[in-house]
Amino acid sequence: MQNSQDENSEVRPELRRDITLVDAVGIGLGAIIGAGIFVVTGVAAGVAGPAFLIGLLIAGMAAACNALSSAELAATYPQSGGTYEYGYRLLSPSAGFAAGWMFLASKLAAGGTVALGFGAYLSKLVPSVPAKYAAVGGVLVLTAANLFGIKKAGKLNTAIVAVTLLTLVVFAAVGIPSFDTANLTPFAPFGILGIAESSALMFFAYTGYARIATLGEEVHEPKKTIPRAIVITIIVSIMLYAAVAIVAVGSIGAPGLAATSSPLQEASRSFAFPGVVWVVGIGATTAMFGVLLSQIVGISRMMFAMARRRDLPDFLGHVSNKHAVPAIGIILTGGVILVLAVFGTLEFVISAASFTILIYYGIANICALRLAKKDKIYPKWISATGLIFCSALAISLPWIVVGTGLATLAVGFMFRMILRSIPGSSAPTS
Ligand code: ALA
Repeated sequence: MQNSQDENSEVRPELRRDITLVDAVGIGLGAIIGAGIFVVTGVAAGVAGPAFLIGLLIAGMAAACNALSSAELAATYPQSGGTYEYGYRLLSPSAGFAAGWMFLASKLAAGGTVALGFGAYLSKLVPSVPAKYAAVGGVLVLTAANLFGIKKAGKLNTAIVAVTLLTLVVFAAVGIPSFDTANLTPFAPFGILGIAESSALMFFAYTGYARIATLGEEVHEPKKTIPRAIVITIIVSIMLYAAVAIVAVGSIGAPGLAATSSPLQEASRSFAFPGVVWVVGIGATTAMFGVLLSQIVGISRMMFAMARRRDLPDFLGHVSNKHAVPAIGIILTGGVILVLAVFGTLEFVISAASFTILIYYGIANICALRLAKKDKIYPKWISATGLIFCSALAISLPWIVVGTGLATLAVGFMFRMILRSIPGSSAPTS
């Protein structure tokens, strides 16, 4: 463990700066490409028809605006914690706490979902392994990988992402001859509302890019590396998703995608090369493994950042001596995801994860609008557009999801109030 003085002359624990640009892009892609493209694509095709392609594009535009806001904020404040940090510094401690708490709620929910998706795909590849066992095994392995230190987790992540990217490129390339324009009609059978709902659903597929910003204290040359990594990550995922989704809907149509929980595998059954079904199965498994890996990294670092200001109990900010990682935070994260994987259900948790993360990105955009002129990299309209997108997508979700998300936020503020009322727990606020 290393220590440093902050502006309050308080001694703070520090993480090691082990992550390079390639690792950071890998962590971004590892965080993004997962259940969204491999599972949610089918649900989105079901609510919008082939026009879910427009929803995918709208979600990509929203993600791009949010990503640029995150990039300029991360360049200015390269600390662990992402929007939690920016909210504290640029808006108010309450706004920072709201962002951090929503991030934790969203990512823990999404972690449980992705673990279930991972288990389901793995058990399709290896039928003797039951899906729940595979999900639990995946969470345990990845929690252990994180405990061995960020460098090892980063290298494992890069290998996983390479396999995932390769399988999606193979899917898109081999599937081109199966594309038939007849599968694109009727194009928008459920109108504008269907397209709006599909945008909100597909937004889930893009979430993850801010993970790079939550690693601010472990990235080499963060002011240069973080914005570059975020921009590269979002461009690659938009292009890849567009290619894969066009080929998928063009080969079996929207009803074919909607009828299954493994839409890309189903689409690949119509390809001339039957081996692609296996390739897609392997890609889905590695993708979800990668998302889970980076979710555990991101959640435990957010806990670390929040505990440092005593917005969470102190022990979550403890950095272990041997591998310089927030060990207790990692173990707690793995434990909660494990419980969600065993008891969670897919569709509600995806929507809940989307709503809570939209609040997080909404706060990020407001922070970017408050940045000093000298710290701005991009024009203000980008963050303003991102904020409008976040609000519009959030209110397009079912009221039960919105209500649960707001109740979760209220519980968070109550927890914080109780924590701070304990003697010796008054918090620094900068
Ligand atoms: N974007 C991540 C996924 O699609 C959460 O699984």
